[in-house]
Amino acid sequence: MSEVSVTKSDKGPAPAGDPLVVLDNVNKHFGALHVLQDIDLTIRRGEVVVVIGPSGSGKSTLCRTINRLETVDSGSIAIDGKPLPQEGRELARLRADVGMVFQSFNLFAHKTVLENVMLGQTKVRRTEKKAAEEKARALLDRVGVGTQADKYPAQLSGGQQQRVAIARALAMDPKVMLFDEPTSALDPEMINEVLEVMQQLARDGMTMVVVTHEMGFARSAANRVVFMADGRIVEEAEPNQFFNNPRSDRAKDFLSKILHH
Ligand SMILES: Nc1ncnc2c1ncn2[C@@H]1O[C@H](COP(=O)(O)OP(=O)(O)OP(=O)(O)O)[C@@H](O)[C@H]1O
Ligand SMILES: [Mg+2]
Repeated sequence: MSEVSVTKSDKGPAPAGDPLVVLDNVNKHFGALHVLQDIDLTIRRGEVVVVIGPSGSGKSTLCRTINRLETVDSGSIAIDGKPLPQEGRELARLRADVGMVFQSFNLFAHKTVLENVMLGQTKVRRTEKKAAEEKARALLDRVGVGTQADKYPAQLSGGQQQRVAIARALAMDPKVMLFDEPTSALDPEMINEVLEVMQQLARDGMTMVVVTHEMGFARSAANRVVFMADGRIVEEAEPNQFFNNPRSDRAKDFLSKILHH
């Protein structure tokens, strides 16, 4: 393997990090529906992978298997060289290593913004309260909502809540961050403030898997685009190549629909 390091802004090949998330021949069914079919996917440390594809193609399920919100029927998933644990304390630790941000922000409504970002640190990582609070405040500043720390989620805009959700995931020092359509539920004027936080995270070297319809983000932040259809990875390529020269008919058809609607 080459030792040359490549920064995101070069948008060249994927960074030459070691494999961090490895899916090997993963299959999953929901009843008769074969929702993940022979999925082989390796995400290297520091790599930003954008997953796109039609509704129902299995993008969310793929994300959910990576932090074991869903089990798989066959094949294996390893994070940082270790197979996904089945249950118990090990599973809680894995969930902390794999940060997840959903379309719906999933903040605790009855806790303040600050408490939301402290909770995982004190409960799962066993961080002392004072240190957890310092870290939470620093992260809230980093995502631009430091002044909202003492409010409750419902008092924030959608874009602010989603940035809190990102801060909460980051507070666990995750090895990889999964984003499942993080801007889809937001009013248009709030989309950019969330994408900018994600862009910065990518520039800082976070390993990221991002399901999104934001093709501008894919073009500027992704090292690689993975295109899924009917439970399969149909095509994967660097963003420029994928958007300018999609190889498969499925990808051409999908792109023509989303880029010209
Ligand atoms: N818990 C479940 N039980 C049964 N079927 C499910 C379940 N979750 C997802 N499915 C089905 O699996 C398929 C893949 O769903 P998934 O949510 O992964 O797709 P997606 O690519 O994320 O779609 P979207 O773009 O609409 O979010 C769909 O046909 C969906 O209806
Ligand atoms: Mg989905």
